[in-house]
Order: sequence, then structure tokens, then C-alpha cells
Amino acid sequence: MESKRNSAFFGIKTLKTNGETLRRWLMQKELLEFGFMVMRSADFITFPVKRKLTPAETNELKKKIQGFAIEKMSFTRGDKQPTSLKGALKGKLPEKDFEELVSSFDTLGNIAIIEIPKGLEKKEKIIGEALLATNKSIKTVCKKLGAHKGIYRAEPVKIIAGERNLLATYRESGCVFKVPVGKAFFSPRLATERLRIAKQIKKGEVIGAFFAGVGPFPIVFAKKSEMEAAFAIELNPIAAEFLDENILLNHLEEKVFPVHGDVKKIVPKKFKAFFHRIVMPLPKGAENFLESAMIAAHPKGCIIHFYAFVPTSDPYPATIDLIKKTAKNLGLAMHVLNKKQVRTFSKETMQIVVDFKVKAI
Ligand SMILES: C[S@@+](CC[C@H](N)C(=O)[O-])C[C@H]1O[C@@H](n2cnc3c(N)ncnc32)[C@H](O)[C@@H]1O
Repeated sequence: MESKRNSAFFGIKTLKTNGETLRRWLMQKELLEFGFMVMRSADFITFPVKRKLTPAETNELKKKIQGFAIEKMSFTRGDKQPTSLKGALKGKLPEKDFEELVSSFDTLGNIAIIEIPKGLEKKEKIIGEALLATNKSIKTVCKKLGAHKGIYRAEPVKIIAGERNLLATYRESGCVFKVPVGKAFFSPRLATERLRIAKQIKKGEVIGAFFAGVGPFPIVFAKKSEMEAAFAIELNPIAAEFLDENILLNHLEEKVFPVHGDVKKIVPKKFKAFFHRIVMPLPKGAENFLESAMIAAHPKGCIIHFYAFVPTSDPYPATIDLIKKTAKNLGLAMHVLNKKQVRTFSKETMQIVVDFKVKAI
């Protein structure tokens, strides 16, 4: 077997407590030798460096950390793992393909979801395998087959490399979710939004989690607030099946109650004047459910978090007007608490959230 040793390096040894300061300094000076294992003992850490330090560098380092030794020594070669998709594809794709390559991707547990531009479709397997090589925790790579589709807002995908598995186990804010990738909507990019709302929830609140999908909003709310209960309403039967499973997985059967069906049919019948807070994460089309939400608002006051896709050029007025009109028609007082961009969607479109309060007059 080929020897894994290489003896042509210098090492800098210091107390482990100085390790991070030394590592940063070596990186900044471009002295750290990559591809070799850092050595550790009970109290000491030794970094491989490219060359002997100059006297000026030695003096500079003396000002940063107390006590270090420079020695000529052997380091074990580490597994050289590329850290970026572009790095992993070097030499595997011609230069011109890099202009088209979309190097950002989402991960859900062990599954990576990437966009493959039309011009690179014939090379998708190479791209998928390169992505697997960048991160050991990625076991499956799939490509998006188009935008979120239909009323269920699922994003169809196709596996292009790795294990043939599309059931992800995803962790967020101390909760765990099973997600059937491609069959139900799920976006890890909304994690901050879920926490933002969870922080506002007061003890004893009863929450309407409309368009619940596999349950991330109500489940994070239940874990991160002192809410009384959340009713999670979802139409897609596959998402609803996983909503049930995720409630059990997180041991929240006493707090999160799944309701399978259509918000428009169920809410006005079963939840009239009921909720202290309602979350409406259906940016494409939630305006059709505004009236149902206001009917379900507790007369003493209800905060509604309303999401919408809007033109970047003029994001808020049309949405706020609609909210005002709907509240007026139902004889409710309304005031806007907060409005903000959640994320950019395209050059012309962005996703916003408007938080507002309605109350019986
Ligand atoms: C954009 S997704 C959001 C899912 C989830 N809240 C999340 O953030 O992962 C919208 C969800 O609303 C569901 N949906 C669409 N129309 C619905 C309706 N009329 N009643 C209940 N759920 C509906 C879709 O199936 C989809 O799961």
C-alpha cells in the first residue's frame, strides 16, 4: 500500500487553547498547508505549514500567542475533499460551462436539490457526482424539474446521482421533519421566518396554521413558544400524511392538531371567531383565503401573517389595500403591525409578509 506519510513540512505546535488564533493567523498569512491532517494530543495542537517562518513572522506570531514551537516533521495526508461544486468540477467541465453552472443548491437532510440549466443537461450526472464529492453528508443529488406546481406547490425532481432515495429527514430549530421531496412543498429558506413568528407568540395562544404542508410552521411554533394549540390545515393528501407523522415524531400530539382538507371549506364552518393568530404561507393565492381567515379571527383580536408574491417595483400598496377592504367588508378594525420582504423570487417578483391585527369594532 502506498505510504500515507509526507515528511517535507514544518509544523507549528501550541497549546490547544491557542489553536483557533494560530489557525486564523496561518490562514491570513497563507501559510497553512492544506490536504494534511492537523495533529492533536491531550493539550497540544500542531498545524502543517508551507515553510519556515521568517524572523519577522515569528515576532508577529509571538505577539498573538504565548508559547509555540516550530519543528520539521511528518504529517498524514488527509482526504482531499473539494469544498465547492466549482472546485469539484475543475477539469471535468470545459471553462465555458462554468458560466452557465448554478452553483447554489438547497439541502434537505442527506438530499441536495440543484438547478441544472438546459445547456448542461447532458452533463447532469457529472455535476451530481461532483456535488456528492463536496460534502460527505450528501447522499442523493436531484435536479429540479420545474417550478413549484399546482395547488399543492410541490416541486418535481429527478435523481441525478447517489442513492435512490427521496425521503429526507430534515432538522430545524430543535424539530425533526420527514419530507417526501418532490411530492410536498418544503422550503428550508423559511426557517428564520418560522422562528421570527414563534418569538412573538404569547402563552395560551390558539393558532391557525393554514396551508401547513408537512408541518414546519406549527411544529416549530409548538417547540419554541408557550402556545396553547395549533390547528394545522393541509389539502395535499401526501403532505397531510407526513404532517401527521411529523407531529408524532416531535411528540406534539397534545399541541398540534392536523386537519386534512381545504381551508376555504373547513375554516368558516369549524373555526369561526376562533384563532388568536393565523399564519398564511401560501404566497401564490392566499388573497383568496383572506376572508376565511378574518372570519376565523378571535373578536378580541387576532394577528394574521399574510404572505404574497408581489412586484419588486411596488411591493406593498395593493396587498395592504386588499387587506383593508376585506376587513372593512366584514366590519373589522385592522391595523398593519409590520411588513417586510421575505426573499427575492426573481428580478421582478419578491415574496413579502404583512403582519396585521384584526379585531371586532
Ligand atoms: C407554499 S406551501 C407551504 C407549506 C408549508 N407551510 C411550508 O412552509 O413548508 C402551501 C401549502 O398549502 C397547501 N394548500 C393549497 N391550497 C390549500 C387549501 N385550499 N387548503 C389547505 N391547504 C392548501 C398546499 O398543498 C401546500 O402544501
